[in-house]
Amino acid sequence: MTIHSRIIGTGSYLPAKVLTNQDLERMVDTTDEWVFTRTGIRQRHVAADNENASDLALAASRRAIEAAGIRPQDIGLIVVATTTPDMVFPSTACILQAKLGIRNSPAFDMQAVCSGFVYGLAAANQFMRSGQYGYALVVGAEVYSRILDWKDRSTCVLFGDGAGAVVLKRDNAPGIMSCHLHADGSYAGMLSVPGTVRGGAVSGRPLLKMEGNTVFKFAVKVLDEVAAEALAANHLRKSDLDWLIPHQANIRIIQATARKLGLSMEKVVTTVERHANTSAASIPLALDEAVRDGRIRAGQHVLLAGVGGGFTWGSVLIKW
Ligand code: UT7
Repeated sequence: MTIHSRIIGTGSYLPAKVLTNQDLERMVDTTDEWVFTRTGIRQRHVAADNENASDLALAASRRAIEAAGIRPQDIGLIVVATTTPDMVFPSTACILQAKLGIRNSPAFDMQAVCSGFVYGLAAANQFMRSGQYGYALVVGAEVYSRILDWKDRSTCVLFGDGAGAVVLKRDNAPGIMSCHLHADGSYAGMLSVPGTVRGGAVSGRPLLKMEGNTVFKFAVKVLDEVAAEALAANHLRKSDLDWLIPHQANIRIIQATARKLGLSMEKVVTTVERHANTSAASIPLALDEAVRDGRIRAGQHVLLAGVGGGFTWGSVLIKW
């Protein structure tokens, strides 16, 4: 019998502090009108000084575990997708494991920038299919506010902090129908934080830089491609898709993707207006919202599609 995995619980967390476009108007030379018309963003959440990625991950995980109706100790595998880890090491996944009071399960971070959750879910699904684990926790958690140049209007208006989590359960039927992952490292310089730690000091500039236009065009191209790839692999038509949950970077990227797919925006879950781009957290945050408000229902086809630095991109197709 083939082993599969399915999502049985979702959760998310947003830090309390909200930074609006009006707040940003007082920090850099920008306007609410520019940010909203170019990106669809009105506001973003920002973590408190004492909140790290693992704290956001913990709050989201507790909600996902509660929704799944299991105990933390039941979890056999933890994957945390993050580009903003608490520290160089140990991994944020290990820190989260301790905060959840779990011992002995494997725990590791997934670094694929904004595609991190899709990569993490695909990896966890592979582990689950080995039959070795009953339940897995997959989290996307980010504190991008720490790696932004708050004087650079071309990037600081785009990102926010948050976390989303899912619990996977081993099952005899999908669940997760397919995963497709891609990367092209020749684009590494287009979106990066080119700093690192060297000899006790920071070497290079540890703040986000981006060729916005190149990222924009690439994102529209590959989101459409991965959607087509997932549908073809499962012998489904575009009309079989109930929900598209794309990475939430820019409403214009999302609208262009929906247009190319011939999908009405009513079938696309969007949170970018309120959350901005939360990188690896954006898809699980949007997923949790649509599950909790009842939009996503049993039997529906849900396509997660991510794209981000690396470049990395990929999809996970789910029968809910
Ligand atoms: O998660 C994946 C990573 N990120 C993304 O997917 C983001 C992808 N890129 C984008 O979303 C868009 O390219 C941006 C929103 C970043 C930029 O939009 P754009 O329509 O490509 O604008 P642009 O970069 O061509 O800039 C247009 C103008 C420039 O002025 P000039 O040179 O035309 O005089 C910028 O200096 O807008 C200016 N500008 C701003 N003006 C007011 C850039 N940022 C701002 C700002 N406020 N915050």
